Amino acid sequence: MRIGTLGNGLMAEALAGQWVKAGHEVMIGGRDRDRAVEAAKRIAAAGGSRVEAGSLVEAAEYGEVVLLAVPAEVAVEVAGLVAAGRTVIDCTNALDHRDFTLAQPATAEAIARAVPGVNVVKAFNLAADAVWRNPPSGLGVPICGDEAVDVVAGLVRDIGGVPVAAGGLVRAKLLEATAALAIGIWVGGGDVRGMFPSLGDAFGAVLPGES
Ligand SMILES: NC(=O)c1ccc[n+]([C@@H]2O[C@H](COP(=O)([O-])OP(=O)(O)OC[C@H]3O[C@@H](n4cnc5c(N)ncnc54)[C@H](OP(=O)(O)O)[C@@H]3O)[C@@H](O)[C@H]2O)c1
Repeated sequence: MRIGTLGNGLMAEALAGQWVKAGHEVMIGGRDRDRAVEAAKRIAAAGGSRVEAGSLVEAAEYGEVVLLAVPAEVAVEVAGLVAAGRTVIDCTNALDHRDFTLAQPATAEAIARAVPGVNVVKAFNLAADAVWRNPPSGLGVPICGDEAVDVVAGLVRDIGGVPVAAGGLVRAKLLEATAALAIGIWVGGGDVRGMFPSLGDAFGAVLPGES
């Protein structure tokens, strides 16, 4: 599959690096061509030959699937470069770092409203770029979307993750809020992972979806 990235930063490099290793063709798109080229070179050096660099417009045109990996405050504007019929994976978090709330609500839904005809899927926003660079086997990756969810689920599996159907795009705002909540807890020294034990542990039985 041809994947374009809008952004050449930490998330674009981490995820694109994994997808190239999985056999996909990637164009890293940046507003500064030199930075996009440098990111593509690092991906190639890490073992991926099917990677090139371009402008934001070129990457938007290149990708059947486009990873939107820019600050959330410019997500709607940058996603506007993507043509109808394509799929945009929105991994942005509109985090207000002052108090770990959301600086803007429902970014993914705002993109879908502003860019008609584009399939917007929220995914890959919960874990840090360092996790995506080296994903642990079986990492659960929640996905919210109305269209092209299967395509994104495939890209989750390609990096060794387990897609978790988290509902339609209307629920993407919950995924965005979950990221803000989790990051705030984590930065405060709390144990995010310990909050969700197996329900079987609580009820003494293995429940559907658990094994
Ligand atoms: N890093 C994480 O652990 C993580 C995890 C989950 C979700 N996210 C989310 O993923 C998104 C990307 O994060 P990141 O860590 O990859 O950020 P980053 O390393 O700072 O990269 C941001 C990218 O966005 C580009 N950009 C910034 N302003 C732009 C504008 N006005 N127009 C076009 N491009 C612009 C930057 O271009 P230049 O290089 O030219 O500045 C850069 O390529 C954010 O929304 C973040 O909340 C991050």
